[in-house]
Amino acid sequence: MNRDLLMSDAVHFRISYEINPYMDRSCQPDTEAAVAEHEAIAAAHRAAGRTVRAMESAPECPDMVYTANGAFVCDGRAVLGDPPAARLEEIRYFRSWLKENEFEVFDAPYAFSGQGDALACGRFLLAGYGQRTDERMHGFLAELFGHETVLLRTAGEEWYDLDLAVAVIDERTLAYHPEALEAGSRSRLRELGLELIEVDAADARAFALNLVSDGTTVTMTQGAPRLAATLRERGLTVVELDTTELRKGGGGVRCTALTLDNPAPR
Ligand code: ARG
Repeated sequence: MNRDLLMSDAVHFRISYEINPYMDRSCQPDTEAAVAEHEAIAAAHRAAGRTVRAMESAPECPDMVYTANGAFVCDGRAVLGDPPAARLEEIRYFRSWLKENEFEVFDAPYAFSGQGDALACGRFLLAGYGQRTDERMHGFLAELFGHETVLLRTAGEEWYDLDLAVAVIDERTLAYHPEALEAGSRSRLRELGLELIEVDAADARAFALNLVSDGTTVTMTQGAPRLAATLRERGLTVVELDTTELRKGGGGVRCTALTLDNPAPR
């Protein structure tokens, strides 16, 4: 998993609106630094043996660097995101790219944050809702792809996408910040029989969980030393990167890569 990724670029990345609590129009990214940061993330994926496919960002889409919200892709099929109005313009670019690259493309019938709220883990789909994604969206995805849906409601807009609260390390292991999930969802996660790594508030707020793991190498932010150490103790190779500029938009490593190779659930 996570060996084939779609990334965009940070050339047009800026804070033009505020749709999550981290965005502040008076705190703009430095474009040159943002581009360098983003390129370093792409280089780290390549160094880990992953394929990075590129989709050019559009000038009218300042959040396009966060490709994770463009769609959820699995087994050659893609369901497009249906994001807040401020980001709606992005979707036609994802539609075109995915079609040109021979994915079968579906529209989302409800509000949907794409992979931001849809994390595949073996036979499970970790299904975020309550902020950017309508709960009914997950019935649609289950019917299309056949995963066992694990509905997880995040606890407030600080965790506006599930990929800030939960991370898939491999098919048997998740990392998560318990307080980022509502009580019922926390219990649901604990009964799956997966191994769970708990991440504290400080690391979670530094976007520790917004990581990309292929089961061997974990690519993550450098602001979360405790999770990095825990993963190393488990024998994983951990690559920590500066995400200062991307954080200004409310995102990190996971948000900038749309996974193209999620397998059909087994
Ligand atoms: N500024 C973007 C937004 O609010 C950040 C998206 C980050 N993506 C993610 N998958 N968490 O939509």
